[in-house]
Amino acid sequence: MIKKCLFPAAGYGTRFLPATKAMPKEMLPVVNKPLIQYGVEEALDAGLTEISIVTGRGKRALEDHFDISYELENQIKGTDKEKYLVGIRKLLDECSFSYTRQTEMKGLGHAILTGRPLIGDEPFAVVLADDLCVNLEGDGVLTQMVKLYKQFRCSIVAIQEVDPAETNKYGVIAGEMIRDDIYRVHSMVEKPKPEDAPSNLAIIGRYILTPDIFDLIEQTEPGKGGEIQITDALMKQAQNGCVMAYKFKGKRFDCGGAEGYIEATNFCFENFYKTGKAY
Ligand code: G1P
Repeated sequence: MIKKCLFPAAGYGTRFLPATKAMPKEMLPVVNKPLIQYGVEEALDAGLTEISIVTGRGKRALEDHFDISYELENQIKGTDKEKYLVGIRKLLDECSFSYTRQTEMKGLGHAILTGRPLIGDEPFAVVLADDLCVNLEGDGVLTQMVKLYKQFRCSIVAIQEVDPAETNKYGVIAGEMIRDDIYRVHSMVEKPKPEDAPSNLAIIGRYILTPDIFDLIEQTEPGKGGEIQITDALMKQAQNGCVMAYKFKGKRFDCGGAEGYIEATNFCFENFYKTGKAY
């Protein structure tokens, strides 16, 4: 079934300057773990063991994070500090990591297309690591989406209801509700002004995509902001075939900005760190 998960991670993280000047935004810690580690853990929980990361200049810390640090391992061997590395060691044992670089920033659609050689011709998940998703009640968001994929066999976007004044921060869908939490997508628009938005159902950073998306991205002209938008390529897929939108169970924090980042930090501190589940 789905084995691969793509992490577009080439972006500059301008909303977090100057912290992100020399450090990838995906390495920002939420309490004690970098953002991208939460994403990879969510992927592994969903059975996605082949991790593909689209990086860019200045992003080498990502590769070093998903590798053994011999000096460190040696230093803490046999001490109680080893517990801090249990989680990351599990990821290294159970996942493979491959990387490619996006040399020019031309949008999320372009970043996903850059990952094509790592993905090939199979369905795959996409995680935008600065959206941190957690579900204390049960399955993680990607696990929920992989289950749905088995049922629908088409691309799926995770959505949530947002304040109508904030539609200009998201891809926004319109569709027909086929179940409480599932919509068949009819149209989608990238970052519409509130008065132009077809709904307040916003796409967040979790996708399952069928591989025909790559040809569609190739045929997609630059859209909003002069960038190649995944939303525009998905719109074509919705017209040709099927795209579902899924109102996931759980919480999502926008860690690309200070407010969401602080909320996520407090949440993870209370629910994971203090309870001893943070490693
Ligand atoms: C991207 C997508 C947008 C989506 C958002 C989710 O925008 O283009 O459709 O709603 O991620 O986080 P970005 O936040 O990268 O500008």
